[in-house]
Amino acid sequence: MKSVGFIGWRGMVGSVLLDRMHKENDFVKIIPHFFSTSQSGKHGPIINNVPFKKLKDAYNINLLKEMDIILTCQGGSYTNTIYSKLRENHWKGYWIDAASTLRMKDDSIIVLDPINLKNIEKSLNDGIKTFVGSNCTVSLMLMALGGLFSSNLIDWISVSTYQAASGAGAQYVIELLKQMGALYNIVSEDLSNQSCSILNITKKVTKKIQDDDFPLKYFPVPLAGSLIPWIDINMGNGQSREEWKGQFETNKILGYKNKVVIDGTCVRISSIRCHSQSFLIKLNKNISLKNIEEIITNHNKWVNFIPNTIDETISKLTPSAVTGTLKIPVGRLRQLSIGNRYVSAFTVGDQLLWGAAEPLRRMLNLLINI
Ligand code: HSE
Repeated sequence: MKSVGFIGWRGMVGSVLLDRMHKENDFVKIIPHFFSTSQSGKHGPIINNVPFKKLKDAYNINLLKEMDIILTCQGGSYTNTIYSKLRENHWKGYWIDAASTLRMKDDSIIVLDPINLKNIEKSLNDGIKTFVGSNCTVSLMLMALGGLFSSNLIDWISVSTYQAASGAGAQYVIELLKQMGALYNIVSEDLSNQSCSILNITKKVTKKIQDDDFPLKYFPVPLAGSLIPWIDINMGNGQSREEWKGQFETNKILGYKNKVVIDGTCVRISSIRCHSQSFLIKLNKNISLKNIEEIITNHNKWVNFIPNTIDETISKLTPSAVTGTLKIPVGRLRQLSIGNRYVSAFTVGDQLLWGAAEPLRRMLNLLINI
């Protein structure tokens, strides 16, 4: 059995990963070792009813070198510090990473096996040892539209995203909830007072959002009762890095040399852990909606097509319906009045599951069986 070292298993993505591994009984297939950047020597998680007694030091290269596989959800700065040291020390093991640091390197593969299993298998035969999860909107888009990509039907995509607080990190989810609580608290009495005017309520809430004591330790500006139309750094041309990733990571996953053009606007909203995306797709040939529906539906077992009706849409195509599941609903499919080859589609996905932990868990399983 392979020794697998886990780093960053306590964070949001890491916890979801462990949870999925428990559910799928993955731990019986490996010898797990748990590392910590700050608590080595302390107790680790309970695996198959047995507590992992002593956390190992995540900065100890000799201990890390004993691993056949390292899976890290610790973040980019850990990868920056440790990865090259390990390789310089002749470690030949497999590195699986949630962070973006190594994604675009020539000797790494971005993993999303329902989309690029063949590329992954080829890279394993070629001796590639570094496997990185993709940006969450990219994974969720590819899981949703995988059929259109594999049928080579896409000319370009313009996307608007509606991204959850969890994509920014655990502290941001907590801060969003504090912001929501602060807004509720300021008007809680008015809400049960039938004679209180809604204008007064909105005034109080608006004033609270702008107050100096509104919870804003992590988000640069309020999110609750608002939105933030910028995610990650400026690439220097007015495009955010999150928007840049849409095209470049997608093409790398598909093994294309920037064949498909994808661009749009990425927006943070007050969803907790589901990212939603609205697509304007330019197809490269005329094709009926019925056909598109079949192509999307038949691509993978997680995608499910939502008919473009009010009831189906609002009950099945929302973060509240999808959160905590591996479902990838796709709906709002219609031909746009712009022209025959222009269609819209909308999808929602849990950014911690298919958007982060699940592709890594599946990659680990591929490696276990080598
Ligand atoms: N960059 C994403 C976000 C998170 O900020 O929502 C995961 O890839």
